[in-house]
Amino acid sequence: MRTEVIFEEKDHRWTFIGRDPQKANKLFDTNQYLITINGESLITDPGGAEIFPLVMKNVCNEIHLEQVKAIFCTHQDPDIISAISLWLSICPNAKIYMSYVWTSFVSHYETDFIDNIIHVPDKGIDILIGGKALTLLPAHFLHDSGNFSLHDKQANILFSGDLGGGFMPTDYPLYVDDFESHSKIMAPFHQRIMPSNEALARWVKMVKRLNPKMICPQHGGIFKDDKVAMFLDWLEILEVGIY
Ligand SMILES: [Fe+2]
Ligand SMILES: [Fe+2]
Repeated sequence: MRTEVIFEEKDHRWTFIGRDPQKANKLFDTNQYLITINGESLITDPGGAEIFPLVMKNVCNEIHLEQVKAIFCTHQDPDIISAISLWLSICPNAKIYMSYVWTSFVSHYETDFIDNIIHVPDKGIDILIGGKALTLLPAHFLHDSGNFSLHDKQANILFSGDLGGGFMPTDYPLYVDDFESHSKIMAPFHQRIMPSNEALARWVKMVKRLNPKMICPQHGGIFKDDKVAMFLDWLEILEVGIY
């Protein structure tokens, strides 16, 4: 599994963990991100049970597990959340941030961790990591009814969850290079799983205002430099949720 620092400034670091060439064929490849600020860490979209041992090993190569203060889940899909009990068994003091829409459903995995769950309201919330705020921004109906993106204001990086994803091969480059061919892989994924153009338009407008340096999805390549605007312009006019 590949581990790569994608942003570093003083005591503030984003580490990409993903692209597992050994994973089972039918497993949808996922990107995990470890954000560490002043010695405290957050893992975003921690990944499924199947890849948990490898993600944990890579996290442990970077930090001590006691540093993990928070785990953020954009929504409740199994590729994001099925390892949640395993994570809490090794990070018992970590808080799990997810939409209040899903908290009572997800608690079926394990009632022991109900006290660890933070029920994020629709308007979002700030998560304090190492004294800095990581902001959860509404991304509802993209694709889930209770869905968030995470914005790191200081680094100006946006974690977008399934937005910007697609069924990529595992050997795909870390950063999107050929946007034209990349958009052909993203299109069917977005058209099927994103139900609402209205929600999409609101999200794109909000993100354009933030003008992030990087957009990091949970699947596929990272958008950097001119690829950020190319992705947002493409997404703005894509027709989704067509019956
Ligand atoms: Fe999803
Ligand atoms: Fe996903």
